[in-house]
Amino acid sequence: MVDHLLGIQGLSKSEIYRYLDTAHSFVEVSERDIKKVPTLRGKTIVNIFFEPSTRTLASFDIAGKRLSADTINVSIGSSSVKKGETLLDTVRTLESMKPDVLVMRHSESGAPHFAARCLSNTSVVNAGDGQHEHPTQALLDLLTMRQHFKGRGIEGLKIGYVGDVRHSRVARSSVWAHLALGNEVRLIGPKTLVPEDFARGTFGPGMVQVFDQLEPGLEGLDVVVALRMQLERQEEHFVPNLDEYSREYCISERLLSKVAPNSIVIHPGPMNRGTEITSDVADGPRSLIRQQVTNGVAVRMAVLYLLARSVQSLEEVAHG
Ligand code: NCD
Repeated sequence: MVDHLLGIQGLSKSEIYRYLDTAHSFVEVSERDIKKVPTLRGKTIVNIFFEPSTRTLASFDIAGKRLSADTINVSIGSSSVKKGETLLDTVRTLESMKPDVLVMRHSESGAPHFAARCLSNTSVVNAGDGQHEHPTQALLDLLTMRQHFKGRGIEGLKIGYVGDVRHSRVARSSVWAHLALGNEVRLIGPKTLVPEDFARGTFGPGMVQVFDQLEPGLEGLDVVVALRMQLERQEEHFVPNLDEYSREYCISERLLSKVAPNSIVIHPGPMNRGTEITSDVADGPRSLIRQQVTNGVAVRMAVLYLLARSVQSLEEVAHG
């Protein structure tokens, strides 16, 4: 049996801390002059991304290389998927080359779970599946908060997700994590993008609070998470137009200093400046957006290490 990381839903608090503690110990590797440790030498990691990505793909690739694994990136535009190969045949073909970990991003919710069921010797990591989950983004956000709230820790915080929550796999994964940690979660946005029944149906009655107005939603928050409008996942029009949306929901320094003066702001990226976040927030002192990207490498090193190493220890048992 190999381990996978397919989502945050169902992880216990101690499993979440295991990823965060391991990531913490890898942060320092990226600060060295020679950014490489031999930990995963001889392991092979395949990154297969069926959707565009800048930071997630680059950081999985960098993470694997900093652990001395061999990494390859299969780009869908030039793969046999373009020739009509099914997902099943694609992942089985890749598994025949004996990779230890397959990192997958896909526009269909559940695609990495399907891959995990089909493969017997390869760990699967979900790098974002449709509107469903994006577990490593949730973990890197938590690591960033943990560094910021060093003395006080990341339990008992007030967190608000602002914008297109409905289509956000980042919000979904993160909310599961915050519920496991006992944090207060608010979902803030227009009713079309943050429907009450979505919140209740997904997370259970009373688990999260829903606000359709920005100012009361932000009031007193410790952490504000700005989300991108996921136009590529919207088949119908959820907001009249982006100008109107930003007039009501764009997070500005003026508003934050009034209602949540001590808050920090994070954003998974890519950002649409002026739509969901103003530049004075994105580039200002409360923004930890660049730190999130840095932490993405450490978190992905931790995930790859914990999964690939678990394969190794089973092999050791078999040969011992
Ligand atoms: C997010 C994603 O792909 O879900 N981006 C990321 O991985 N950093 C969020 C987004 O695309 O808006």
